[in-house]
Amino acid sequence: PLVSSTSLLEAARAGGYGIGAFNVHTLEMLQAVVDAAEETGSPLILQSTVGTVKHLGPDYIAAAATVAANRSRVPIALHLDHCTDFATIVQCIRAGYTSVMIDASMLPFEDNVRLTKQVVEVARAAGVNVEAELGKVGGVEDDIVVAEHEALMADPQECAEFVERTGVHTLAPAIGTAHGIYKGEPKIDFDRIRRIADLVPLPLVLHGGSGIPEEQVKRCVSLGMAKMNIATEIRIVFSDAIKAVFADNPQENDPRKYMIPAKKAVKEAAIEKMRMVGCIGKA
Ligand code: 13P
Ligand code: ZN
Ligand code: NA
Repeated sequence: PLVSSTSLLEAARAGGYGIGAFNVHTLEMLQAVVDAAEETGSPLILQSTVGTVKHLGPDYIAAAATVAANRSRVPIALHLDHCTDFATIVQCIRAGYTSVMIDASMLPFEDNVRLTKQVVEVARAAGVNVEAELGKVGGVEDDIVVAEHEALMADPQECAEFVERTGVHTLAPAIGTAHGIYKGEPKIDFDRIRRIADLVPLPLVLHGGSGIPEEQVKRCVSLGMAKMNIATEIRIVFSDAIKAVFADNPQENDPRKYMIPAKKAVKEAAIEKMRMVGCIGKA
């Protein structure tokens, strides 16, 4: 069965490694990251955005993830990424998600606390992990768009107060990374991560994983970032592999002919990220 991400992430923070969390949009993308985890003995967090939940249906996604988990020798959790509304969270928990993110980072602090607390209450009964965000991660993720000048770093004292008052299991503090591919390098505030990690003993979550140079990923993980979210890079390699098939053969009409190379590309990219965060062999 699918497992809650809480124990996986607590083990990761305690062990000084990170777990790759991959946003998947199709059955083939899901299978590709599962293959990557299996082949490398890595614990895995499958994720879907709210947009993909609407596109595929939470029950279809949960069913596919459950089949993967039941067959697998590595632990697999299913997480809902960046959800801003309570109703969708309840719907996904009912469908079988074992982890959810309530993203109320656009609300004032007190409102973020209140909404996150409500989610923690419904999740607790189901044994579901809750992730919340403080500060504002820049860039574009699904329907959430945060311009560079609107991005906001998380305040360490507020992080400590927030986890104390809400009872969340995992915290995503904005520390300078952004969704999408960076122009140049991300400007990560490592000292801020250190100060947050000193005050918050929980697994921390690194958003905006695509495009962060390896050495910076490793530094983040060593400071307490126990989960790294990857969306954009696997979408790009998946789509590029399909485009390459059609560039060579515009008449191709057998989905397997373009899905097989697309799957292979996602699997390879996922293994590379698993290697970066150090979760290979930790299953
Ligand atoms: P990237 O788009 O940079 O991979 O970020 C992923 C993410 O944080 C999903 O929540
Ligand atoms: Zn994110
Ligand atoms: Na990114």
